[in-house]
Amino acid sequence: MAEEHIKQRIRQLLKEHNAVLLAHNYMRDEVQEIADITGDSLALSMQAARTAADVIVFCGVHFMAESAAILSPGKKVLLPRPDAGCPMADMVTAEALEELKARHPGVPVVTYVNSSAEVKAHSDICCTSANALTVVRSLPDSKLIFVPDRNLGRFVAKSVPDKEFIFWEGFCPTHERMTLAAVLQKKAEHPDALFICHPESAPEVSSLADHACSTSGMYDYCRTSPAKKFIIGTEAGILYKLRQENPDKEFILASPALICPNMKLTSLEDVLHSLEQMAPVITVPEDVRLRAKTALDRMLAVPRD
Ligand code: 13P
Ligand code: SF4
Repeated sequence: MAEEHIKQRIRQLLKEHNAVLLAHNYMRDEVQEIADITGDSLALSMQAARTAADVIVFCGVHFMAESAAILSPGKKVLLPRPDAGCPMADMVTAEALEELKARHPGVPVVTYVNSSAEVKAHSDICCTSANALTVVRSLPDSKLIFVPDRNLGRFVAKSVPDKEFIFWEGFCPTHERMTLAAVLQKKAEHPDALFICHPESAPEVSSLADHACSTSGMYDYCRTSPAKKFIIGTEAGILYKLRQENPDKEFILASPALICPNMKLTSLEDVLHSLEQMAPVITVPEDVRLRAKTALDRMLAVPRD
């Protein structure tokens, strides 16, 4: 089927099912193009919580669709590629987290949304890369456990010297494939460019950045910056909207390794197939959902900066 025809059919089915198509900023260009809403993890989870649609088609990875299912129990949440997981999320289990908690009784757990519903259910509050610092600052405690991203955790900790952190040693393999050598080479090739990276990057890389922020933060920063050239240190999917929104600016990917295989799985054909079959549906057991929702709701209640 020709691409235009697939897109038309998707739009038609979305209407028929009163469905909304959400896509993460790392999705393939053609999937972002057809989405009703694109955004970072925080924006998409807020959108999932407030949409009036009956069906949410989530173009992203498994934990994101799970968050939508947790926040919107009355809606059907479809994940066109159920095999789209997140290796970082898989690096922590609820059992292992409970063992760590037992060694630090009373210490609150801040969990990055890149985690399973089970892990969220065993946490006190969630955060995304867009609000991690605000969430951590909102806690009165002087000591906290941060899971699973060691890089985001250490990045946040630098701005909160009065708090003690216990880090989980999880990481994003895609961001960690962006080496210091690759970034230094790009900076040498483009000395007039600013380097912007995601806080999931390794510490030696993010310490070189002119600005480190979530994917949506990058759109804001690049749009409002007077600079004309940027080296981008996050997954390649972000380039689609950056280039669209800033035709007069140049964007250079910091490393060719910045491709998340899971984020690249979902095709237009998968979206169409999912809408035709109304499957695969992502569900979360009710007891887990309720406890995970408490951690997500606490995050959503923290006033934004
Ligand atoms: P954000 O969109 O929240 O910056 O997340 C990045 C990411 O790695 C999602 O998997
Ligand atoms: Fe997980 Fe990293 Fe891929 Fe995001 S980019 S889904 S954190 S592996």
